[in-house]
Amino acid sequence: MLHDKVGDKSFITAGLDAVIDHLKEPTGDNQTSIASAISSTDKDVVEAERLALLHHFTAMKSSASTEQSHRDVHYVSRVDPVGAFQAVLAKLFKEIPGLQGYGDANPIWATTLVEQGIYDLKSFFHHVHDDVSRKEPFIASVLKEWKQLKFERAPYPAGLPATLPLSDHAKVALLADWGGDNPAARKVAAVVNRQKPDLAIHLGDIYYGGIASECETFLRLWPLQAIAGKPGAGIPPKSSLALNGNHEMYSGGEAYFSVVLKAFGQPQPFFCLENKHWRLIGLDTAYAAGRLKPTSETDPIAPQWNWLLNLLKTGEKKANIFLTHHQPVSAHTDEHNDSAPLRSDIVDLMAVDGIGQTAIFGWFFGHEHRCALYRDSELPYNARLIGNGCIPHQVQEEKAADAGCNNVDYFNKRQDAIGSGAAVSMYAQLTFQGSESAELLIEYIDEDNEVWGSEVWNAERGRLDASGKFQETDFDKQLSDQ
Ligand SMILES: [Fe+2]
Repeated sequence: MLHDKVGDKSFITAGLDAVIDHLKEPTGDNQTSIASAISSTDKDVVEAERLALLHHFTAMKSSASTEQSHRDVHYVSRVDPVGAFQAVLAKLFKEIPGLQGYGDANPIWATTLVEQGIYDLKSFFHHVHDDVSRKEPFIASVLKEWKQLKFERAPYPAGLPATLPLSDHAKVALLADWGGDNPAARKVAAVVNRQKPDLAIHLGDIYYGGIASECETFLRLWPLQAIAGKPGAGIPPKSSLALNGNHEMYSGGEAYFSVVLKAFGQPQPFFCLENKHWRLIGLDTAYAAGRLKPTSETDPIAPQWNWLLNLLKTGEKKANIFLTHHQPVSAHTDEHNDSAPLRSDIVDLMAVDGIGQTAIFGWFFGHEHRCALYRDSELPYNARLIGNGCIPHQVQEEKAADAGCNNVDYFNKRQDAIGSGAAVSMYAQLTFQGSESAELLIEYIDEDNEVWGSEVWNAERGRLDASGKFQETDFDKQLSDQ
């Protein structure tokens, strides 16, 4: 689960310093910790591992120190190994008996232990033990968990998905950046559950590093459960799908593939659902760090790309809605620059014979922890950012896009309390209007079951049809009228 101190960047950089300080010292205790982590007592092997870890953690500290701000209140690093380090700390804080019950339930624990001077962070890593019987210092537990992670990409799931039927009346919940197991995630899950969708789709990011314990927690909290009141008993068949996210890939994607996709009965990390008028096309942008187009025919993402090309050349009368984790556009310079390769892939995609410039009607995505509707007239698809699934962030105040970036017409401004500055989390709900109607109702619903706004897309009238224009609830006015 998210942990208040693990989400504090200064704590993470100080924690990295503490690990580095330990690794600098080839002393008995530190050597014992490394030996335990790699299950070897060979002195040369342990010393080589110490130097390798020292180099690795020093580089991580440097990357974390210079990492740009993502405008979040809770730090979730986008530096791959730093995200994995956060996952390790959060797991241990949850598992160590003496630290259980901390985290979101008790955000002052480190004040008690560290900041009041009982321990500095280095001695905390040395003196806190993972359990009474083994008396292993925290640093040994950290290194042991670290060495169990697999940082190389897991093998890509084989095969191509069959197109799945989608009811013409289907209600579909889209959750993005929701896998944090914090109070906001639980509130959003409860709202989704009350809405009783036919299908729920996660657009990726299980925090902090997509490790197995985080993926198992994700499944327990998932809004659709086979047996009400028995989380973990299973997921209802054909009810749920999940896309890959960058945080899942911080641990190589292995747990996302083997735990989440397995539980959802989803063979590949990409899929297509279709009814009479619409197709929902879920794509994996995370395995290749934001790319869709393969670099060669042996690239693991080549099957997805070729499948997508074939898909878009058929079903010409259906309106295609893309679902991805990564953003194709952004109002912010850093994220806009990050998504340049994805935009380039889409230019190439639309240039393929038989696909064309109108191939994509709309596109829902996450990654940035905001909810924003980009200006449709300036893009070749209706772009909707719904990455505000659970990560605490401030209410957006900037109204204009950064220079050269994409303009936003509407963005979520609702706070969880008057004057708090803390933005609410939400998800998007799609309700198809039946075989006789080409309309799709889209509602943006927040953690309090309030509808921030809604719009109607019409597959026959085209994506720029003005009749379904976004209707925004003015929560500020509602408050001032009270
Ligand atoms: Fe992300």
